[in-house]
Amino acid sequence: MINQINRDGFAVACQDGASGMLALPDRSIKLVYGSPPYPNADRDYGNWKSAEYIDKISPFIDAAIPKLTDDGFLVINVKANREKSTSITSSKRSLVVEKLAIKLEEDWGLHCVDIEIWVKENPAPTGLRVACQDAYEQNLWFSVAPKWSINLDAIRRPYESHSVKTYEGYEYKPRSNGNTYVRKNKKIQPNPLGALPKNIITGPVSARIGNHQATQPFYLPEKYIKATTNEGDLVVDPWLGSGTTGYMAVKLGRRFAGFDLVSDYVEDAKQWLKETRQEVNANA
Ligand SMILES: C[S@@+](CC[C@H](N)C(=O)[O-])C[C@H]1O[C@@H](n2cnc3c(N)ncnc32)[C@H](O)[C@@H]1O
Repeated sequence: MINQINRDGFAVACQDGASGMLALPDRSIKLVYGSPPYPNADRDYGNWKSAEYIDKISPFIDAAIPKLTDDGFLVINVKANREKSTSITSSKRSLVVEKLAIKLEEDWGLHCVDIEIWVKENPAPTGLRVACQDAYEQNLWFSVAPKWSINLDAIRRPYESHSVKTYEGYEYKPRSNGNTYVRKNKKIQPNPLGALPKNIITGPVSARIGNHQATQPFYLPEKYIKATTNEGDLVVDPWLGSGTTGYMAVKLGRRFAGFDLVSDYVEDAKQWLKETRQEVNANA
């Protein structure tokens, strides 16, 4: 597979994602990014119940760790769905994602860069009346190295208009309380590349219509691919689905490998990535 990745820039296979990663060379992957099946979500590709979730996902983490470069990253986009209500309990929110985050540090020795929040502007209604409407997902962002480096400039965002006004009109002054934000009166210029990125991502859910029930929007993998990899680096999605991560990786000039158990998804993704590769080549 690695020969195919090096030749075409990407490879996808109908295969278990953990065994797919194990077949790649050690320390070859800069970023493992993906959305596993969500806890308690009934989908046509199965349902990983919260009680068995850690057992289900562990082989993927075990496989990823030796394949990540020493400066590599793992990002898991996931949402904790509720457990089914019974005659004596309401539909509880599962805490298995929090448990996974703690285990990534304590058991697998990774380092938490952040747990970022994706706020969905148009969340699907759940119909439940036991808590507020479910409108966010978590992105568990972990580093192999305790001291990591990320491309902040690549993910800067436009300044808010009120920040621009502040920069134009405001002079920072030393504070009488001893906090040394500035030592002498100073005007601060906005960074020409934009404001520092936030650890919250806000946007709509994917509007793409295809064979897959859970496609993610482009801007999710885009942020982490830009932040953690450079052109030519290898990005892997062990839960390929429709191929969104691969699309973004190929578009951004990264090498990509992806795996899924459903052959229809893999075939659709292969075609999409081939077309994307051709577009990238044509525009080069
Ligand atoms: C949440 S979806 C991923 C969606 C994808 N991010 C997208 O944008 O289309 C999870 C995917 O994991 C796949 N999957 C489940 N078990 C798997 C396994 N053992 N190995 C690889 N993929 C698996 C499912 O078939 C499903 O397509």
